[in-house]
Amino acid sequence: MMTWNRCRLMRALAGSVVVLMITTSIASADQTELARGASEVATTFLEELGEAMTREMTERGPVEAIIVCTKLAPDIAGRLSRERGWRVTRVGTRVRNPLLGMPDAWEQRVLAEFTERAAKGKTIAGMTHHEIVTEPDGQYFRFMKPIMVQSKCLLCHGSKDQIPESIHLMLKQQYPFDRAIGYKTGELRGAVSIKQPIEDARGGPLGGQDQ
Ligand code: HEC
Repeated sequence: MMTWNRCRLMRALAGSVVVLMITTSIASADQTELARGASEVATTFLEELGEAMTREMTERGPVEAIIVCTKLAPDIAGRLSRERGWRVTRVGTRVRNPLLGMPDAWEQRVLAEFTERAAKGKTIAGMTHHEIVTEPDGQYFRFMKPIMVQSKCLLCHGSKDQIPESIHLMLKQQYPFDRAIGYKTGELRGAVSIKQPIEDARGGPLGGQDQ
C-alpha cells in the first residue's frame, strides 16, 4: 500500500515538474518580448514628459511648468493606458499626490531594489525590473523603469532653500501632506510602472478583437 502511494506521488510530482518547466520556458520567452514592449512605452512616456518640461520652463517659466507634473503627466499616462489596454502610471519614492503617486506593495519592493542597486554603484538610468505576478483575477506582467531627479526638478522637489517662495506657498496650500521634497540630483524620484493583463498580450479576450 505504502509503495503504491509513494509511486503515485512520485508520478504526480514528476508531472508537475514537467508542467512547471514548460510554463517557465514559455514565460521567459514571452517575458523578453513583453519587457521590450513595456520598455518602449515607458521610454515614450519619459521622453514626452522631459520635452514638455523643457518647453514649459523656457516658454512659460518655472512656476507655470508645474502643469507638466499636475496635468501633462496624468494625461500622457492616461493616453498610453487607453491605447495599450495596460495601466501606465508614475509612482514616487516619497509622494506628493497619493492618488496617482503612491506605490503598491510590489512597486515599493521594486523601488527599494532600485535604491539598493544604485547604492552598489549601478547607474539608475539603465535599470528596469519585470515580473509575472499572479493575482486573484489572473496573471499580470509588471514592469518598472526608474525616474531620476534632474536639476530642473529641484525647483519643486528639492530642499527648502531651492524651492522659490511662490512655488513653496502653492505646494503648501495644494499638498499639505507633501512628502516629495528634499530630493537631490541623481537620486531615485520614483518609476514608471506598467501593469499589463497577460491575456491581453497574447491576443486573448481583452485584446485583438475586431468588433
Ligand atoms: C514646477 C513644479 C514641478 C517641477 C519642476 C517638477 N515637478 Fe514633479 N510634481 C509636481 C507636482 C505639483 C506634483 C503632484 C502632481 C499631482 O497632483 O498629481 C508632482 C508629482 C511628481 C511625481 C508623481 C509622484 C508624486 O509625488 O505625486 C513624480 C514621479 C514627479 N513629480 C517627478 C518629477 C521629475 C522627475 C521632475 C523633473 C524632471 C519634476 N517632477 C519636476 C511639481 C513639479
